[in-house]
Amino acid sequence: METVTANTTIREAMRVLDRSQTKLCVATDTSGKVIRTLTDGDVRRALLGGATLDSHIGNLPGKEPITFPEGTPREPLLQAMRSHSINAVVIVDKAGAPVDVIARTTLENLILLSPPHMGTAEVVFIQQAFDENWVAPAGPHLARFEEGLKAVSGRQHALALSSGSAGLHLALRVLGIGAGERVYVSDLTFIASLQPILYEGAIPVLIDAEPEGWNMSPVALGRKLEIDAVQGQLPSAIIVVHLYGQSADMDSIVALADRYGVPIIEDAAESLGATYRNRPSGAHGLLSVFSFNGNKIITTSGGGALVSDRGDLVEKARNLSQQGRDTAEHYQHSQIAYNYRMSNILAGIGIAQLGHLPDRVARRRAVFARYQDGFRDIPGIRFQGDLAGGHGTRWLTVIDLDPDRIARHPYQFMRRLRAHGIETRPAWKPMHMQPLCHGMEFVPHDPVMAVSPGLFLRSLCLPSGSSLSVVDQDRVIEAVRQIVSEE
Ligand SMILES: Cc1ncc(COP(=O)(O)O)c(C=O)c1O
Repeated sequence: METVTANTTIREAMRVLDRSQTKLCVATDTSGKVIRTLTDGDVRRALLGGATLDSHIGNLPGKEPITFPEGTPREPLLQAMRSHSINAVVIVDKAGAPVDVIARTTLENLILLSPPHMGTAEVVFIQQAFDENWVAPAGPHLARFEEGLKAVSGRQHALALSSGSAGLHLALRVLGIGAGERVYVSDLTFIASLQPILYEGAIPVLIDAEPEGWNMSPVALGRKLEIDAVQGQLPSAIIVVHLYGQSADMDSIVALADRYGVPIIEDAAESLGATYRNRPSGAHGLLSVFSFNGNKIITTSGGGALVSDRGDLVEKARNLSQQGRDTAEHYQHSQIAYNYRMSNILAGIGIAQLGHLPDRVARRRAVFARYQDGFRDIPGIRFQGDLAGGHGTRWLTVIDLDPDRIARHPYQFMRRLRAHGIETRPAWKPMHMQPLCHGMEFVPHDPVMAVSPGLFLRSLCLPSGSSLSVVDQDRVIEAVRQIVSEE
């Protein structure tokens, strides 16, 4: 950022102000510490008070500069701007040197990571549920939403649930997976992929990511299946995650699972709308799960679904999702079950949201393409790869920052961007690095070199919502480029 000193003349300072986007000129002393700031208003008042264009700014009357340490959250910054009636503040490092100037307009227009994107039809379905008094959990919207889910997933049966986590739990339950059984699961994922294994007292085995697509490594999977087959301890299921909307290498993974007779549960929570070899994400495993959480590509505010071609399994899950009532006129129950069903009102939101799915996928992919263009000339920024045969949704665009070429850590980017009103998030922390998973078996991609820790430590998820405007995305690109350039 451009700074001036006490010896700078008003004329030069006006030129700096003219070039500055924030309309704040920052003066520092010889040690680099901020000594004052100057706005157009300060210049005007100084000239009216008798100063000339050749006066030094150090001689002008001024107040203590308002500065904030790096990492200060947005709210205190906005509060200070409102209470002092100013439009920009200076961010300083530990030594008091300026690292950034943040404008009020920037903070007031917050850019979120992946906010819900509603259309107009959603409230029509909610209103209909109210009008017809289908406010009780069950109702006609549920059946219609499930029809829609069958169509987008290419499966014959669908069950709408209260969350994706519930879907994964039911998938394990209907496969009869219980205490002491082993379940392989992708290591680089959100914790929800693994928790249901623990609910059942089963044992997770964490399979590393592969370096290009960041999904479950078929190399690690194949090696582990071979060893476990010899030792007579094959897993009861493999939970394969399609990370950030990009499909895992299902050709290789399905071939391996088939060879050893192990069922696949697809955790397609992040990949609804993606395809692999022209088949929908979620159409490759025995059972597949979607999430409609608020940050997903379509949302019912909270919700999920289980889909499969096996009607018997989905019907079993349906029963378990409604407290597992036996076939009897009275309330009779013979097994542990849950209250996991989606409500009719939320299913109404889902029907409308499903109608937008192709548009939302196209928009997220366009966001990704724009980031690619925006960072093309920066050596050291890499993206999650696109698998041959895969057409991902780019639910989130994630950048991988090469530490040999980019001096700042992703968390430094995250804090700086937050101060600009831009929400970013770290990549998922691998399961084998979670305190909850201490002592669990982890199978690296390469026996001597794991992939997922590096991706976690180097990566940052960028705002990727389908409602992100081009103007706001340019703000993100510009802010990232600026941080990269500050070596
Ligand atoms: C990979 C993955 N699996 C499972 C889930 C769980 O979905 P839900 O939040 O609907 O329970 C999520 C998202 O939240 C997810 O990202």
